[in-house]
Amino acid sequence: MPTNGQLYAHGTYFCATMAQIGTDIKYAKLLLEAGQLVGIPTETVYGLASNALDQDAVLEIFRVKDRPKFDPLIVHADSLQKIEPFVRHLPEAARVLADRFWPGPLTLLLPKSGAISDLVTAGLDTVAVRVPDHPLTLALLASLSFPLAAPSANPFGYISPTTAQHVENQLGAKIKYILDGGQSGVGIESTIVGFEHNQPVVYRLGGLALEEIEQAVGRVRVVAHSTSNPQAPGMLKSHYSPRKKLFIDDLAGVIATHGADQVGFLGFAQPSTKLPLANQMLLSASHDYGQAAKHLFEYLRTLDGAKVAVIFAELLPEKGLGRAINDRLRRAAA
Ligand code: TXA
Ligand code: MG
Repeated sequence: MPTNGQLYAHGTYFCATMAQIGTDIKYAKLLLEAGQLVGIPTETVYGLASNALDQDAVLEIFRVKDRPKFDPLIVHADSLQKIEPFVRHLPEAARVLADRFWPGPLTLLLPKSGAISDLVTAGLDTVAVRVPDHPLTLALLASLSFPLAAPSANPFGYISPTTAQHVENQLGAKIKYILDGGQSGVGIESTIVGFEHNQPVVYRLGGLALEEIEQAVGRVRVVAHSTSNPQAPGMLKSHYSPRKKLFIDDLAGVIATHGADQVGFLGFAQPSTKLPLANQMLLSASHDYGQAAKHLFEYLRTLDGAKVAVIFAELLPEKGLGRAINDRLRRAAA
């Protein structure tokens, strides 16, 4: 057993209550092959991964995340070809989307084959699949003989992690290793697309903008997700939440109740003139939606830890990634 503070060859220190953080794909592979969990970087958010074909390893994900078993997991592989054994039928529009956007921030809900367990899919007849766009994780997936089940690596209900350190802060005591791929470039979870009568339907707005999907396959329906939506049992309304109360309406009322110096402000491009500047964060001074998405969860975490009582977030215009950002803010405020 190593002792606290001991330096490992791959440049990380051991601590009994911490995961190691490093870039050792071989070590990550060994742990996964042994049925253990590993934090993995993706372009959207960090995932908490295990062998999707090992029931005990998948159960461990639900335990570590404290996640209800009715909330199914996304299966990750490094190519469509490696996903095909787990899928019964691939609608033409799904193939178009996969060809165009994988690797990338897109998850497809497809009819599942018998090769994937009911535990992963929460007993549904579809399986969620994705090829993430991150060089370390793609190399890891290419080295494995099985796909990885991976939800976002946050405790159930909290903000998703976009750095290895976020994973460490929240789940470090429960897992051995976090593969460090730097800050997630997209910063918001994948867009989830399913199919009804072979027509694409968006079930979760995310890192791939609706406009891009529509360019590839034409008009797409967006289904507002909630607990009552049987297609997406896990897409709970109250989710992605900081511990502090988050408001998106009536800034004047929030200031009247809590006092201007107790309100942390998350704005898009301009600060609020009604609040002290010290407690304000701007997602993108240049009105760049991609940059705003990349900063969203990190800044929410920062404000959650700041010396304020509550957080007020300004909604973005409803276009491009602004839609997905607003979706997360509305859920966090619910
Ligand atoms: O960007 C992402 O998608 C990240 C990275 C790690 O890939 N993963 C992620 O996983 O966000 P998670 O578990 O936090 O969110 C996946 C969502 C859940 O709301 C779950 O209910 C839904 O996908 N989901 C998974 N399988 C499903 C299925 N078969 N039918 C309907 N919804 C499904
Ligand atoms: Mg999640």
